[in-house]
Amino acid sequence: SKMNKINIYKNSYDGSKDLAKILIKQINSIILKKGYCTIGLPTGNSPVKLYEELVNSYKNNLIQFKNVILFNLDEFYPIRKDSKECYRNYLYDHLLDHVDFTDKNLYFLDSEIKEEELANYCDSFEKKIIEVGGLDIQVLGIGINGHIGFNEPGSKIESKTRKVKISNESYKTISKDFKEINNIPREALTLGIETILSSYKIYLMAWGNNKSSIIKKAIKGKITSLCPASYLKTHNDVTYFLDEMSSSKL
Ligand code: GLP
Repeated sequence: SKMNKINIYKNSYDGSKDLAKILIKQINSIILKKGYCTIGLPTGNSPVKLYEELVNSYKNNLIQFKNVILFNLDEFYPIRKDSKECYRNYLYDHLLDHVDFTDKNLYFLDSEIKEEELANYCDSFEKKIIEVGGLDIQVLGIGINGHIGFNEPGSKIESKTRKVKISNESYKTISKDFKEINNIPREALTLGIETILSSYKIYLMAWGNNKSSIIKKAIKGKITSLCPASYLKTHNDVTYFLDEMSSSKL
């Protein structure tokens, strides 16, 4: 993992701005080369400022998204597509509604897919990624237990897109975002570890003090299923975007 880089910024604002700049450069150069770019995008608090920057950059004509193919990284299961907490809606609110993505280039994990269709559905999602030539770029956040996407501790390195159980730790974190406590899903759909690792470039964001312990484990610790983010060390092109707080234990 010689090419893996750690970028440390004063705060999440500076880090998000720089990540946006780097993504724009990457996306534009990939589109110039092959006509389109495939990207996997996360949700959560970490990428909020990144998406703001991307929207501003679009408005300033620094980037267009009409030739960008989007795969969403993870999604609650089951959850109604019209509910506020659905990750699909998050992506619309923070990014898609404000820029020029083409509808046919948007691939969401279907939070309403029938249980009996799930296995086939997850396989077909993997196939779609392969059909478009794989992911050029995968952007990630990290859970305080080391999850990436919804690959919770215990996830295998060879895991693919699938349904997973949400850990108790993640459940607690998520409950803060849900309006109705009864409606919090216990399961989720996620790109697998292998799916994420198959991306040519990976960018992981972590901001704030509450991420400092897991960032230390993920970057300095050994590769273990107990900290799924540690699997990124097997990849040769990961850049970690950290602020002073999240990097304070490195
Ligand atoms: C969530 C999602 C992840 C996300 C992570 C961190 O539960 N499953 O995709 O990256 O946890 O979230 P946040 O950025 O809000 O800290």
